[in-house]
Amino acid sequence: MKQPSRCIAAIAPVIFVSILLNGCANHSATPDPQPKAFGAGVISVSGEKQTGGVGSPLDQPLVVQVNDAQGAAVAGALVRFTAARGVIFRPDRGLTGSDGQLTTLVTLGGISGHYQITASTLTAAGKAAVIQVDEIALGYQEMLGAKINEMHCVRCHDPESTPERVSNHDNLEPAPHAFTEGAILNAMTDANLLAMISHGGAALNKSPAMPPYGNTLTKAEVDALAAYIRAVADPPYRKQGVLYAGN
Ligand code: HEC
Repeated sequence: MKQPSRCIAAIAPVIFVSILLNGCANHSATPDPQPKAFGAGVISVSGEKQTGGVGSPLDQPLVVQVNDAQGAAVAGALVRFTAARGVIFRPDRGLTGSDGQLTTLVTLGGISGHYQITASTLTAAGKAAVIQVDEIALGYQEMLGAKINEMHCVRCHDPESTPERVSNHDNLEPAPHAFTEGAILNAMTDANLLAMISHGGAALNKSPAMPPYGNTLTKAEVDALAAYIRAVADPPYRKQGVLYAGN
């Protein structure tokens, strides 16, 4: 007689967990929390323009803040996060805290590229105020390029110094560019980009302070760096020789 009840005791938590998971996966079925206040606009506080692996959580959470018309933080305002292509937010909606902010953890989708995320809040007039932020998902080759960049390039190309790594950037003339500077990097052809990395600045009549990496790195590593540079470009890089509708 004891057998069945032991069985139920063992199964019950499993059912409970699966109900929880199903409930979480289907957010649209959950009603929005009732806003306690309304703002005039929403701003991004931190966590935008990050790069992360495809299908992986970003290192930093995305934090947005709802403000009133005077720019003061509004607590208890409703914020919703939306994006295309399989992006997951934890949570995807909620009320701002006493600091007027809402924090979400972002997991990017399974395709590499730029992801635009929209955070929206409801204003007192019943309209949506929105802000859009960009995040970038890197594929395998681009992730490899990101690692090599950390090892070899950031000490000159990243204008920002950190306590662990003092950047040489400000001592260089002409100064190298951050690889996110699409306005500069997108103008380089693939051939020039690869030549710059492999043969150094001097080979292209540029500064010899840009070292040649053709003997230090493999061809695959140089290709990975170029793929990384193309992936993080802001504005986004578009392959030469391809025409896009609407441009
Ligand atoms: C010792 C400092 C230094 C390191 C390390 C370095 N670079 Fe540079 N790089 C430069 C300088 C200086 C320039 C600017 C050359 C010019 O405009 O005359 C430059 C220019 C470039 C450019 C042309 C676009 C621009 O920023 O002006 C590319 C692309 C580039 N580097 C890629 C790389 C890659 C990839 C690595 C790592 C494998 C790397 N660099 C490491 C100093 C460096």
